[in-house]
Amino acid sequence: MGAITVITSGKGGVGKSTVTTGLGFALANRGRRVLLIDGDAGLGCLDHMLGITEQQVFDIADVVSGSVEPVKAVYTCSFVPNLFLLPAPVRQEDVVSPDIMKQLVQVLARYYDHVLIDSPAGIGSGFLSAVAAAQRVLIVSTPDPVCLRNANKTRMTLEQAGFTQQRLVINRFSGQNFRLQGYYPDLDSVIDSAGVRLIAVIPEDPLLAAAAAKSASAPQNSAGAMAFGRLAARLEGEQVPLAPLHKF
Ligand SMILES: Nc1ncnc2c1ncn2[C@@H]1O[C@H](COP(=O)(O)OP(=O)(O)O)[C@@H](O)[C@H]1O
Ligand SMILES: [Mg+2]
Repeated sequence: MGAITVITSGKGGVGKSTVTTGLGFALANRGRRVLLIDGDAGLGCLDHMLGITEQQVFDIADVVSGSVEPVKAVYTCSFVPNLFLLPAPVRQEDVVSPDIMKQLVQVLARYYDHVLIDSPAGIGSGFLSAVAAAQRVLIVSTPDPVCLRNANKTRMTLEQAGFTQQRLVINRFSGQNFRLQGYYPDLDSVIDSAGVRLIAVIPEDPLLAAAAAKSASAPQNSAGAMAFGRLAARLEGEQVPLAPLHKF
């Protein structure tokens, strides 16, 4: 059975979908079969990022209602052959219950090396469904105090629910902005603020945003894509050092 990872955050708009797709591209580039599940009912965007909007007919709500087999609602990314998507329900009220989500993900995980679930922000029902099937959770945060406080709240909610396999992904890191902001002396104090062990620092990289907008992946030698490559390797158990921060 494939590894099941949820990507979540306390605050919205911090890069969950960017991390889900960036990690998906990186794992697929390592030769893995990867399924992305868009758990953001009503606000799904992975269909656009993977370039499948035009072909999409069904989504996870159709699978859950029993009107189609899961395989009919899984689409292949238009530019990466071993990357697949189960799209989000179109309507917010069609959020899948935690029990059903768990059953569905466990069945699907048999056919992939990795399942990555893009969770909605916050700690509401969509989040609880997304984490129900998870073996591990990546909490995405930008390196600012408000976002980190929400990341810490997410960590506590997860711990209360019994999840111990949590890691922090610091996204949109820019050394220059970090120094200008001057709130934290170093990265260790950022990690302390979230209370979660760090697994990756993803730089602020306009090529990531540009790629998402035009349904493509960022060039493999871009800073963002390389950071996702290191995250993918770490998730698969390799010891990869953090890139020196002066490079960000
Ligand atoms: N590391 C990054 N560098 C540059 N832009 C980023 C980065 N991460 C996210 N963004 C941009 O920030 C916006 C929000 O990201 P998104 O992944 O949609 O967040 P979420 O899924 O948490 O709502 C998007 O426009 C995205 O392109
Ligand atoms: Mg999103």
